[in-house]
Amino acid sequence: MSSLPQYIDLAPLGSTLMPRAVPFLKPNPPRLSRLGRGLENIEDSGIFSNYGPVNTQLETSFVEQLFHGVGACLTVCNATLGLMIAMKSAADKIRRSGFVIVPSLTFAATAHAVLWAGLTPIFCDVDADTWLLDEASVGKILAQYGDAVVGICPYATFGNNLDLSWYDRLADEHNLFIVVDAAASLGSLNHAGQGFGTGFRHAIVYSMHATKTFAVGEGGLVYSADPALISRLRIMSNFGFGEPRTATMAGLNCKLPEVSALMGLEKLRTFAGVVEHREMLAGAYRHALPAWCTQRMLGVRHAYQFMPALMPAPLHSRRRELQSYLAQEGIGSANYFDPHLAGHPYFMEHGVTAALPVTEDIAPRMLSLPISDFMTLDDVDYVCEAVVRWEQKIS
Ligand SMILES: Cc1ncc(COP(=O)(O)O)c(C=O)c1O
Repeated sequence: MSSLPQYIDLAPLGSTLMPRAVPFLKPNPPRLSRLGRGLENIEDSGIFSNYGPVNTQLETSFVEQLFHGVGACLTVCNATLGLMIAMKSAADKIRRSGFVIVPSLTFAATAHAVLWAGLTPIFCDVDADTWLLDEASVGKILAQYGDAVVGICPYATFGNNLDLSWYDRLADEHNLFIVVDAAASLGSLNHAGQGFGTGFRHAIVYSMHATKTFAVGEGGLVYSADPALISRLRIMSNFGFGEPRTATMAGLNCKLPEVSALMGLEKLRTFAGVVEHREMLAGAYRHALPAWCTQRMLGVRHAYQFMPALMPAPLHSRRRELQSYLAQEGIGSANYFDPHLAGHPYFMEHGVTAALPVTEDIAPRMLSLPISDFMTLDDVDYVCEAVVRWEQKIS
């Protein structure tokens, strides 16, 4: 039905005579073997890390191309470390312990960052349609715990657009810090058509992991409209050295190597096409599986990493069976985020769980289907036909 987009390199696809396989994720970081000149330049410069010239160029390009020239950003060597320094910076500013509201429907890194900063996560419910942190549930926790709540770490679920202005107001009204986990959001555009996060004064953290839409390998980005916040995080990311080789604040080593920055620059070159291609595949899934409930997306564009959807009610207890059937057909799938965070033993022990009726309903029903830069509309048809065949077989 569709041909592959121009930016796809056919080499990794192998022979077309191979049986059809649609892996759940197929990372597509820039091919290092094609970046010879850039790699030679790095070797000649003798600068391999420590915010070198390639990294500076990448940070400038991010702000210009993804955030409309507003604010500043800092690369980090993965989003988990970005979350950790953003959380630690906020915690050190308030100088007291307390609770941080996080959605239970997210990845472990969010809660780990809260705990590493010496704070306690409260696992909160999500909205049934957008799968974003539920505003009414956040309100209930604030009413119950009062000023023991010191911050909120919402997740921009699967690249969806959070209403950041709501968090901005809440931060002022309740004297809270906000750190946004936007691990899957590089490439998502808000209602104004700007990169998700543009103009937001708190820290927003994105991932450049190989499996993300903005695939590099290991890498992350912290953005804020407040350059002073980014300067502070840059110091924390470099051992807390606010003066030459002297720690003036908490620190880690989160610096992105120059080779990874080079890959980031190359990814940026073709990135708009990557996001559009993935959004087209997501649209085809929605069309081909009308009985499956998909996420209500806010904003104008979304950087789909994969296609999460809720299995129809009579079938959902058989998710594992469907996954095995799909695997036999060469189709990968995943059950993100099940268990949700309040179901992880470590977080049960160290966090607090609020009422989670929606999360407990949707996490066991959610199945994530493949999306990759290499997939075509024919591949989506192949996956959906297999799903429908299985549904008919068991009904
Ligand atoms: C919601 C969420 N937060 C944080 C992370 C961590 O990102 P990284 O692998 O770059 O540390 C991920 C990774 O998948 C994620 O899905």
